[in-house]
Amino acid sequence: MVGQVVNSHFKKPYGLHSPAGVMIDVEQLKQQAGIRACDYVKDGMKVGLGTGSTVKYSVIELGRKINEEGMQIVGVPTSIATADLARKVGIPLVELDDVTNLDVVIDGTDEFDSNFQLIKGGGAALLREKIVAQQSAAMVVVADDRKEVETLGAFPLPIEITPFSHGITIERISQELGCQVTLRNVSGDTLTTDNGNYIADAHTGPNITDPSSCEKALLQIAGVVQVGLFINMCDVVILASENGIRTLTKPDGRLS
Ligand code: 5RP
Repeated sequence: MVGQVVNSHFKKPYGLHSPAGVMIDVEQLKQQAGIRACDYVKDGMKVGLGTGSTVKYSVIELGRKINEEGMQIVGVPTSIATADLARKVGIPLVELDDVTNLDVVIDGTDEFDSNFQLIKGGGAALLREKIVAQQSAAMVVVADDRKEVETLGAFPLPIEITPFSHGITIERISQELGCQVTLRNVSGDTLTTDNGNYIADAHTGPNITDPSSCEKALLQIAGVVQVGLFINMCDVVILASENGIRTLTKPDGRLS
């Protein structure tokens, strides 16, 4: 069905139980993961700054390191929201066009599988996130363990599409994937991305077994601007769970 209102953030409730049965604050774990990811940022680096409620802690920590430790970096934000936060915490920003290549990007994810393939775009920033990730020498992802999946797709796949003829584009995506595709709304209005586009959420279910083919097929549809599948981009996941923070490094990745 085309153009229905859905909230694509189907996440488990916040709060996890530790083995000892103590309630753990997921927000605290996300903060720890966000801070840990900053270990990958060294003096003089050009850093991609992702979007979302986990990576915001990395942005705040980088600001702290600049202000309190004199670290010198420049950042390229992946959204207007992240740019606003980065300016607030004192990270000097540059245009990607002016620096071309970045040393590392830190970003969040909506899902990741054992091959470090991602679904992103829950925060509607997937296009800029992907452009920035593509220009980065490495990608560090920060997540809590609700995001770890066997097969991608339980989280509806975000796809950035043109407003022009978006109904036809949604119909074509639906035919291609054989699933319901909905136009993302916020407070009753169609969500518009930072790039002036719309987001279609494809409710595939957890069965995207070949994300690369799925991405290629969707990119053939003229109204599709970009797909929220990040293939072979992520090198490290900093994972927050009830057992603490774990660093998962892709064996053949750029940070292994
Ligand atoms: C934005 C994204 C986010 O990184 C993703 O939705 C994860 O966000 P959060 O850390 O808030 O769960 O892809 O487009």
